[in-house]
Amino acid sequence: MRNFEYWNPTRLFFGRGETDRVGQECRKYGERVLLAYGGGSIKKTGLYDRIVRCLQEAGCSVTELSGIQPNPRISKVREGVEICRKEKVDVVLAVGGGSVLDAAKIIAAGVLYEGDPWDFFTGKGTIKGKIPLGTVLTLAATGSEMNRNAVITNEETKEKLVIKNPHLFPDFSILDPENILTVPREHAVYGIVDMIAHVFEQYFHPVPETPLQDRLAESIMKTIIEYAPKALDNTADSHAWETIMWCSTLANNHLLEAGVSADWGTHRMELELSGVYDIPHGAGLAILFPQWMEYVLPLIPKKFAQFAERVWDIPRGNRSDEDLGKAGIERTRQWFREIGAPTRLREVGIGEERLEEMAERVAKRGPIGSVKVLTKEDILTIYRRSL
Ligand code: NZQ
Ligand code: ZN
Repeated sequence: MRNFEYWNPTRLFFGRGETDRVGQECRKYGERVLLAYGGGSIKKTGLYDRIVRCLQEAGCSVTELSGIQPNPRISKVREGVEICRKEKVDVVLAVGGGSVLDAAKIIAAGVLYEGDPWDFFTGKGTIKGKIPLGTVLTLAATGSEMNRNAVITNEETKEKLVIKNPHLFPDFSILDPENILTVPREHAVYGIVDMIAHVFEQYFHPVPETPLQDRLAESIMKTIIEYAPKALDNTADSHAWETIMWCSTLANNHLLEAGVSADWGTHRMELELSGVYDIPHGAGLAILFPQWMEYVLPLIPKKFAQFAERVWDIPRGNRSDEDLGKAGIERTRQWFREIGAPTRLREVGIGEERLEEMAERVAKRGPIGSVKVLTKEDILTIYRRSL
């Protein structure tokens, strides 16, 4: 195990009905609230009315930023920063999925920064603080509700970049499983792929002797595998969804990273795909992950064998670690198909055309990966095998 520091300041309120706390929680940070949301799903589901009512009852005044798109754009962040300054907003409240949460994080940080918030992503500027931020999560996927990450796309340069900064933890997050029951199946599937992919990134690593981290990760993966089909088959099964929701938060709140050297290479390769082609993040991950696994299998065959045995319950028989690992990877790919995720780039409309250019850009931002530091040629091979 490696040395580590673990700190997570986000206050969580988890469970049915917790949404109604939103007014009183925001009011602790001030009176003027920026309500940030996406393309309108919260209006259709009635969540918008409920949130506005709670805020008003708590004595908050509400300004809005609507229309935050999936794969959120920096231009929308800039708009949010302007509104916060003009309206002297005290607290940002993000109501939505990972895209809304990530945009809100950078808005809250951007208010305290004099330059352009894109500077945070290019390294030209550093986040030194943020105004208070609360979230009400409506889609289980990213873990943004309890982590220090944000992913934003620059629509002019087609760059989709991630930053990690301790100021980006939300101050509080409300995880009410009733709010995720309306997610369309397609996005629910992508969310499930994303959460299990987060566990993969932190489970497959080169650090020896991490038994507790392994078992924590394995139990989250097994729970997702058991409960995802139940949840997808019955959108009203709020017990299945609450389990899935808690899995997604634990999968990416830095707990699994403690003491290991997480890889994150597949995520870096995927962000390039969804940045250039604007595909859903989870779709890109379902395509790339089995290919990456096969590519690095010979480097950590024991870990892949453990994955096959413990996570997929595949009996060893007289197979070598590598053969057993291969069976675990194939089972993973098959499971992605079973739940309805794509496993080929062509299925999401991506061909050979820009693969080389993309591989070059990803490699340039390197170093990418911990199981294997991926070169441009490695990345291009994985992209091509994914076609
Ligand atoms: O915009 P609205 O109308 O709200 O519709 C959204 C959107 O179209 C819809 N939706 C969300 N909740 C709903 C709902 N529809 C009906 N009922 C509800 N309750 O779902 C669609 C997708 O939403 P989005 O927020 O884009 O999905 P997700 O949560 O998967 O977030 C994806 C973004 O997060 C980034 C991804 O790259 C991508 O940009 N990530 C953020 C991470 C982080 N901050 O830690 C880590 C991840 O690895 C990831 O990179
Ligand atoms: Zn992800």
